[in-house]
Amino acid sequence: MEQHPQPAKVILDGNTFELPIVVGTEGEKGIDISKLRTLTNYVTFDHGFGNTSNCESAITYLDGDAGVLRYRGYPIEQLAEYSSFLEIAHLLIYGELPTAEQLRGLSENFTEHSMIHEDMKRFFDGYPSSAHPMAVLASMVCSLSAYYPGIDMMNPTKEDFDRIAVQLMSKVRTIVAFAYKKSIGEPFIYPREDLEYVPNLLNMMFSSPTKQYKVYDEVVQAMKVLFILHADHEQNCSTSTVRLVGSARTNLFASVSAGICALWGPLHGGANEAVIDMLEMIHADGGGIDKYIDMAKDKAKTFRLMGVGHRVYKSYDPRAKIIKQCAHELLGKLGIDDPLLEIAVQLEEKVLKDAYFVERNLYPNVDFYSGLIYKAIGIPKDMFTVMFAIGRMPGWIAHWKEMIEVPGGSKIGRPRQIYVGPQRRDYIPVTKRS
Ligand code: CMC
Repeated sequence: MEQHPQPAKVILDGNTFELPIVVGTEGEKGIDISKLRTLTNYVTFDHGFGNTSNCESAITYLDGDAGVLRYRGYPIEQLAEYSSFLEIAHLLIYGELPTAEQLRGLSENFTEHSMIHEDMKRFFDGYPSSAHPMAVLASMVCSLSAYYPGIDMMNPTKEDFDRIAVQLMSKVRTIVAFAYKKSIGEPFIYPREDLEYVPNLLNMMFSSPTKQYKVYDEVVQAMKVLFILHADHEQNCSTSTVRLVGSARTNLFASVSAGICALWGPLHGGANEAVIDMLEMIHADGGGIDKYIDMAKDKAKTFRLMGVGHRVYKSYDPRAKIIKQCAHELLGKLGIDDPLLEIAVQLEEKVLKDAYFVERNLYPNVDFYSGLIYKAIGIPKDMFTVMFAIGRMPGWIAHWKEMIEVPGGSKIGRPRQIYVGPQRRDYIPVTKRS
């Protein structure tokens, strides 16, 4: 990172302290407070990390005011239109788009590592068929550590890392498809070497011993776009979780498993499922939108419009723009007339005009329209966040790699707090407590 010639000055208790200012490649500035406590005995207070950068990262650039998102410098709009998910995985993890030979090699490695250990199939017997697939996914991904022992975390080799990264991305697709089959009581369908990443997943989910699923190009294209748009989003809740867990030199599978748990929450990746719940509720209620807009604005109520608002985007989420168009195109091509799409469009129109949402810069986010696409493909609601997790794998892996490769070793993540509990008091035996 570059250092700005002028440091920041902080006046505390009448003393002036100088703190360096660091500058990123897009001109973003940050006050380096890492020595603040040593110099002054003060810490900073930043609930929800809204203003705190925990690392340098060369993976994704995001300008929330301008609605800009780039992976390794490439605009998301170009990548969504022209690239493949495997290319994006290579770009995010290794920093450059792959050559044709590298891409072929990556694809072969994905095929080689697509099966899970046969013993792991027995795990699925232990889950109830009603189990939420995110619970199954998180445990199965963590369990990969037991079957595919990781790497020397204090001194990983390139070959070790390359192997576990591919194992994770390829096996996760098989785990997801098996979890789905378990939930509907059908036999598992194994991965095929002649199918690419997305068709392979669809085939494992929707084919059966008696029926061959027809893979439509428009469905593959829509899923590919969603996976690419989900692939990374810099220091969000789940990615920060992966980095935090990994900062203890925890293996990749366990770190990513923690990220999956973070993604599950409805304020994060779980919002795509929550959006469809909300649209279905509005539809069942007769389709009237105003009541729900009013409810979302009412501070006495906990209801929020799901798929609306974002910590970083204070203009239209560029991913939502692409997904909205994709949803219209896919539903049109498949001849699906989903009343929920109409409700979503009306809801968005109102949100974009309503003073409450305008003043707070609340726009539709990536999850607002993505569930409608998954629904049109036939993916059940509780699998939506699982799809998001498949897409986010390259980003989590890229951040874990970037973190462990920090020269000299990255520091273990360990935030501070402001203690507000009771001051010192003496223990009272239970017989004397009133
Ligand atoms: N509906 C109604 N009001 C909202 C909403 C919403 N969806 N989102 C934010 N607000 C209000 C909030 O009540 C607050 O109002 P006030 O200033 O009067 O107190 C103001 O806008 C700022 O909200 P915040 O909660 O302080 O903002 P945040 O940056 O902490 O939260 C968010 C961001 C995404 C969690 C939030 O906008 C939200 O809960 N949205 C709905 C859930 C959702 O769609 N999540 C997916 C996020 S994008 C994908 C991802 O992260 O994976």
